[in-house]
Amino acid sequence: MSPSDRIATARAELLKRYETLSNKSDILKSRELKELFSVIPTLEPHERAGFGQSVNALSNELKAMVDSESVAVKELRSIDVTAPFDSNAPKPELLPSEQGSIHPLMAEISRLSEIFSRMGFVIEQSREIDDQYHMFEALNFPKGHPARDDYDTFMTVETDSDGSPLIAPAHTSTMQNRILKKYKSNLESGDAIAAVVPDRVFRNEDVDARHEHTFYQVEGVYVAENVHAGMLIATLQKFLEEYYERTLNVRVNPFYFPFTEPSFEFALSCPFCGGEDPACKVCSGEGWIELLGCGMIHPNVLKAAGIDPNVHTGFAFGCGVDRLVMMKYAIEDVRHFHSAKLDFLKQF
Ligand code: DAH
Repeated sequence: MSPSDRIATARAELLKRYETLSNKSDILKSRELKELFSVIPTLEPHERAGFGQSVNALSNELKAMVDSESVAVKELRSIDVTAPFDSNAPKPELLPSEQGSIHPLMAEISRLSEIFSRMGFVIEQSREIDDQYHMFEALNFPKGHPARDDYDTFMTVETDSDGSPLIAPAHTSTMQNRILKKYKSNLESGDAIAAVVPDRVFRNEDVDARHEHTFYQVEGVYVAENVHAGMLIATLQKFLEEYYERTLNVRVNPFYFPFTEPSFEFALSCPFCGGEDPACKVCSGEGWIELLGCGMIHPNVLKAAGIDPNVHTGFAFGCGVDRLVMMKYAIEDVRHFHSAKLDFLKQF
């Protein structure tokens, strides 16, 4: 190979290699370049000067490339960690990625919202920061009432206009007062108020397989003339039968909530085994599952929204969405939902 061919071949080789190096200055220490220098003294004197100049020129060219790169790198102080390519690579190449999927809770919330909307309910959103008025007062929890202790949640250092800390709502019932006010005009035109709020709530919980500090509830509110508890039970039964796609038995027991009177604890026959499997992992063979709280809206709650309880009555319910979904798929641990375990999430 003639000396000039040799340089041309080595140059092409070096430029190709340069592209692949993460540390660009390594090119200056490469074996090919060293070999070119070591060839110079072995050449005939008449070839030496020309060849030497060419090797120097190539070496300078590479140095200039390395220098310009390090200036560029210095200028590039921050990297885009969301870039779909490895920002350290000399040439951006798309990273392999797998198709994402909708989170099971979000998929189920769309499903239950769709059922409620077919039943005539509008879908509303809650908030992630709220005030004590909507958390307690508007729901007929008097100040200092022990029932407030059941709703221990996170607080901010900022306070509301009364000087009380703002809170991360511990239930979606915080939206009752707003919904009643927002849709009060429905009543004036002879229509019902019918809304559900599937959204996120927070509690100061000791986390275990059945308790999370952050979870989802769906709140329901229905107000019209002559509403009675039979309508509440039928609405919930119909919703649950649609959701679990099977017939269910339901049972109500008296309970206490400050914002409903009477209040009930609502149970359903196990949607997983239908109450027929003594070894069922969802109902532990009991056949019944206590699912949610509900009742007839307390007159004070209607009054707080400017609705006359002598004319209009209503029902409300609040149901844990995580629980609903866990029973549908026999999920044994609520912590899976927020675990980012892809093996779990990809099943849905
Ligand atoms: N907010 C209650 C809770 O989280 C659940 C509840 C019970 C909601 C009765 C209601 C209701 O609307 O009427 O414990």
